[in-house]
Amino acid sequence: MAPLAAPFAAADPAERIIVALDGMDPDQALAFAIGLPKLRWVKVGLELYAAGGPVVVQQLHDQGKQVFLDLKFHDIPATMAGACRSAARLGAQLITVHACAGSEALRAAQESAQESAGVAGLPAPTLLAVTVLTSWDPARFAAELKITEPLANYVPQLAQLAAQAGIGGCVCSPLEVAQLRADHPVPFHLVTPGIRPAGVALGDQQRVLTPAQAISAGSSQMVIGRPITAAPDPAAAFAACCAEVGAALA
Ligand code: C5P
Repeated sequence: MAPLAAPFAAADPAERIIVALDGMDPDQALAFAIGLPKLRWVKVGLELYAAGGPVVVQQLHDQGKQVFLDLKFHDIPATMAGACRSAARLGAQLITVHACAGSEALRAAQESAQESAGVAGLPAPTLLAVTVLTSWDPARFAAELKITEPLANYVPQLAQLAAQAGIGGCVCSPLEVAQLRADHPVPFHLVTPGIRPAGVALGDQQRVLTPAQAISAGSSQMVIGRPITAAPDPAAAFAACCAEVGAALA
């Protein structure tokens, strides 16, 4: 099955920025999202989902936000299909799955997400494959998992597996985006966390790109958390990121 079309209008900078609603309880997340009327995309991760469940996804969707549901599904094909069926019904537009679940599970996830959104009258979501979590360092990855393939080769291989299974894109680190974009042209969807505007604290991120660099390297969309959510004026920080992305797109 062909990958789904990218669910964003490329020319609008606000469509390129997904704000990670981390470290917030559901009420805080909903208030934050309402407080930024120009914000189009939010990421609901395990932390917020564990606290707020499906309701918070539906509430954000009802606010008019597009939701990236980052629950990183990894299971047998039938369970992956069921999880993606339910996630698509909630109105999530981006949904993460682990590429290493394998092609059968990825195909099942993709098909059920698409079918379920159609039944609910919603646009089909794009599934994003997670390749190798960036928290692994190459030596520990090899030693603990007994995987002989170097980590640097493993990431593009898993991306290829996902693409061949009909998955529409990948989540990738700033270090990987240029290579993955070379291997997988648009409309394959590349979403990049690890973004820091110039002059903003790195926090626990080590290897980062600025919003403009992410666009130039081929990111479809970027995930930005604390540079916006922890800013003294989040609306101003979001506007500054949009301006930088807009200039890079021009
Ligand atoms: O606050 P910050 O901009 O660092 O948040 C980045 C978001 O992207 C967080 O939700 C984090 O879990 C996620 N992420 C990441 N690095 C990855 C994958 C996901 O920072 N490799």
